[in-house]
Amino acid sequence: MSSKETNGLMGWIDARIPLTRTMEKHVTKYYAPKNFNVWYVFGVLAMLVFANQIITGIWLTMKYVPSAEEAFRSVEYIMRDVEWGWLIRYMHSTGASAFFIVVYLHMFRGIMYGSYQKPRELIWIFGMTIYLCLMAEAFMGYVLPWGQMSYWGAQVIISLFGAIPVIGDALVEWIRGDYLISTITLNRFFALHVIALPFVLAGLVFLHIVALHEVGSNNPDGVDIKKNLSEQGVPVDGIPFHPYYTIGKDLVAIVIFLMVFCGIIFFAPEANGYFLEYANFEPANPLKTPENIHPTWYFGAFYAMLRAINFSLFFIDAKLLGVITMGAAIAILFVLPWLDRSPVRSWRYKGRISKVMIVLFAIAFVILTWLGIQPASELYTLIAQLCTVIYFAFFIGMPFYTKYEKTKPVPERVTS
Ligand code: HEM
Repeated sequence: MSSKETNGLMGWIDARIPLTRTMEKHVTKYYAPKNFNVWYVFGVLAMLVFANQIITGIWLTMKYVPSAEEAFRSVEYIMRDVEWGWLIRYMHSTGASAFFIVVYLHMFRGIMYGSYQKPRELIWIFGMTIYLCLMAEAFMGYVLPWGQMSYWGAQVIISLFGAIPVIGDALVEWIRGDYLISTITLNRFFALHVIALPFVLAGLVFLHIVALHEVGSNNPDGVDIKKNLSEQGVPVDGIPFHPYYTIGKDLVAIVIFLMVFCGIIFFAPEANGYFLEYANFEPANPLKTPENIHPTWYFGAFYAMLRAINFSLFFIDAKLLGVITMGAAIAILFVLPWLDRSPVRSWRYKGRISKVMIVLFAIAFVILTWLGIQPASELYTLIAQLCTVIYFAFFIGMPFYTKYEKTKPVPERVTS
């Protein structure tokens, strides 16, 4: 496809940097499938939330003081005395939860429609690396206000590395940079949270989109739209991303999202203790352990799996086994493209077992998320064990049930 001839100022710029060509390739002449549905809005929403986190984060950094003595007070100062400080902080704290909500829905869409399958494996791998960085970013960010949950959450998570044989204790000390969690730990978490990880995340999002635009978007039918080209060489089942999807879909999604987002910020910024935990309104006290130490909701599922493992296996003790289970639960998502052996992409055309497994997997994940933030009890541990088995069965069974189940024929063209 040849690029439009430009003149005047645009012509001058285009002779020096490929602005028009890039805009055409990635926006105005990027042909996206006609049948995108609501599940296709979460990528752009993730970008919006990412921008929100960067911008509000810059403003918070102007007043925040990264030291064990000053951190809590500086956050209170932002909330009470800095003009609009409360708004900036609530936008950032609500943004953290919003980020995980949209990213979890975005990932689930990928699972439903097989968007990780060939040739989109790298999009998925970049996505999973984003997810891993996002977890580290959120964890370190949560330590910064230096409240009770910041301190004790960090204590629990960092001590998990101590379960690793031989190097465990040295590793914990290396991460903390001290014999206990202190200003030194806070300083490095601050540096990583405001500089290093946002940089890495931005780079990964760029690669994620480059990889996506190289192979083109998947769609709810999993039909390859590049197979059906018009005489002009454009997909008959595709429409230019701009203006059709930018205005017709993404802008609508952004407006609805912002309405909900503002509703939470203005009326329920703590979200009943789910987005900002009540224990974190108390300054960190190394001598007083909070009653129910738990991570923020978005880590709940993995924390529930960690706690579900209350037994040892051969020479592996319960703590190490829990850490291995939790690590495996994340690691297994990376190899998803190679576990799915189905000849079709979308669950619309997969067999009954796949459909049932996806639904069970989603239910198990939601239950685990909830269990992760509840105080442990015998019954809850049992439910968490059952859900952990379902979670892993979804992945480990996938090479078998996707290979042998009967699939429906995929249509030649997209359906709606
Ligand atoms: C900062 C986080 C992220 C951003 C900003 C982002 C952005 C995007 C955007 C804009 C798209 C195209 C529009 C859409 O399909 O919704 C996309 C597609 C995709 N993303 Fe992400 N993404 C993020 C995280 C992730 C994660 C964590 C995963 C999975 C592990 C993932 C997997 C995918 C896949 C498989 C596609 C292709 C979907 C398809 O064509 O059907 N992304 N992403």
